[in-house]
Amino acid sequence: MRTMMIWSLCLIISLSNRILVIASSSRHLCRPYQKDALLEFKNEFHYNVMAGKTESWRNNTDCCSWKGISCDPKTGNVVELDLQDSFLNGPLRSNSSLFRLQHLHTLDLGLNNLTGILPASISNLKYLRNLTLYSCNLFGKIPSSLGNLSYLTDLDLSVNDFNGELPGSVGYLNRLTELRLVSANLSGKFPLVLLNLSELTWIDLRSNKFEGMLPSNMSSLSKLIYFEISGNSFSGSVPLSLFMIPTLVDLDLGRNDFTGPLEIGDISSPSKLRVLYLGENNFNGPVPRSLSKLVSLVSLDLSFWNTRRGKVDFTIFLHLKSLRD
Ligand SMILES: *[C@@H]1O[C@H](CO)[C@@H](O)[C@H](O)[C@H]1NC(C)=O
Ligand SMILES: *[C@@H]1O[C@H](CO)[C@@H](O)[C@H](O)[C@H]1NC(C)=O
Ligand SMILES: *[C@@H]1O[C@H](CO)[C@@H](O)[C@H](O)[C@H]1NC(C)=O
Ligand SMILES: *[C@@H]1O[C@H](CO)[C@@H](O)[C@H](O)[C@H]1NC(C)=O
Ligand SMILES: *[C@@H]1O[C@H](CO)[C@@H](O)[C@H](O)[C@H]1NC(C)=O
Ligand SMILES: *[C@@H]1O[C@H](CO)[C@@H](O)[C@H](O)[C@H]1NC(C)=O
Ligand SMILES: *[C@@H]1O[C@H](CO)[C@@H](O)[C@H](O)[C@H]1NC(C)=O
Ligand SMILES: *[C@@H]1O[C@H](CO)[C@@H](O)[C@H](O)[C@H]1NC(C)=O
Repeated sequence: MRTMMIWSLCLIISLSNRILVIASSSRHLCRPYQKDALLEFKNEFHYNVMAGKTESWRNNTDCCSWKGISCDPKTGNVVELDLQDSFLNGPLRSNSSLFRLQHLHTLDLGLNNLTGILPASISNLKYLRNLTLYSCNLFGKIPSSLGNLSYLTDLDLSVNDFNGELPGSVGYLNRLTELRLVSANLSGKFPLVLLNLSELTWIDLRSNKFEGMLPSNMSSLSKLIYFEISGNSFSGSVPLSLFMIPTLVDLDLGRNDFTGPLEIGDISSPSKLRVLYLGENNFNGPVPRSLSKLVSLVSLDLSFWNTRRGKVDFTIFLHLKSLRD
């Protein structure tokens, strides 16, 4: 009798759990005001080819089931909008309905034709963690309001035609781990505010118009794995502190105006560096012996190094057992 009671109690508990689960999943119909914002956002653009994700967006269906949308399973709020390569044509207006989707944490509008500026009101989406506006035909200044997106971990503004410098307010994004600004027509000195962002693992500034020297104190970027700045006009010597970052795997400094003999310093802990591109700069002097300590190297580019007619000591490379290129 006793066990029977316990069993039926268990049954009731497990059944009611299941009912709760069913009830909560049926609550995931999207909120009407968020659905309206999405439909209005869709209509802000014109479409040359109607084959994008927004084609499945209809007023009489649950927006959480639409292509490119994810809702939070607990609250039902729209938290993710992924409209990469969705044939959006037209500018992102500062009063866009997009900015009413206050709960978004991921926004990907990459590979669309948003010919226009990136409006300052992007910072209304204050819970954004991932922002991807890769290849969107954006121009004008990058708005300093970006610095207000304090939850941002991933920012990709690559392949756009911006004007001027990276705003200093980026220095407030202290959760940022990945920063991609490839081919974004950015100029100015290396943004010193990046030294403030100690969570950064990835900095990609390739193919811009940056110039001047790298700062000497780069060791605050203590989690950096990828540092890629090729195709700019950086000059001066490469700071020793860069080689001291123990996490570094990929260092691409090619096609700049770096000069002088290269100092790598005393590397005590085993280096993780796998890729080292130094080609097409103005390095000169002997190839440094300490290169032989970079025992994980797989790919090394020293092209256009001016050895000043000195002989290269090829025994340096004998220690590099993983080297392929
Ligand atoms: C969606 O439908 C509702 C109810 O029929 C209507 O009030 C709302 O304006 C519609 N939204 C859009 C964007 O058409
Ligand atoms: C948004 O701004 C544009 C001009 O930039 C204007 O034509 C449009 O009516 C505005 N939309 C709303 C909903 O205020
Ligand atoms: C992108 O938009 C601009 C301005 O609206 C237009 O002139 C251009 O043709 C568009 N490009 C493509 C590839 O659709
Ligand atoms: C956001 O960025 C992180 C870090 O790169 C990545 O792991 C994650 O998949 C991204 N989230 C989305 C939804 O794209
Ligand atoms: C950023 O946020 C601060 C404080 O909330 C506000 O005063 C400022 O106007 C915002 N800046 C921009 C550019 O949106
Ligand atoms: C690139 O930036 C420069 C200023 O540094 C500006 O004069 C030029 O118009 C920009 N190019 C494009 C294609 O926007
Ligand atoms: C650096 O980050 C801290 C918070 O982590 C912030 O208080 C400070 O203003 C930032 N400095 C710059 C120059 O951005
Ligand atoms: C790093 O060096 C730059 C000059 O190269 C200096 O302006 C900056 O204050 C230094 N930052 C830290 C954190 O030491």
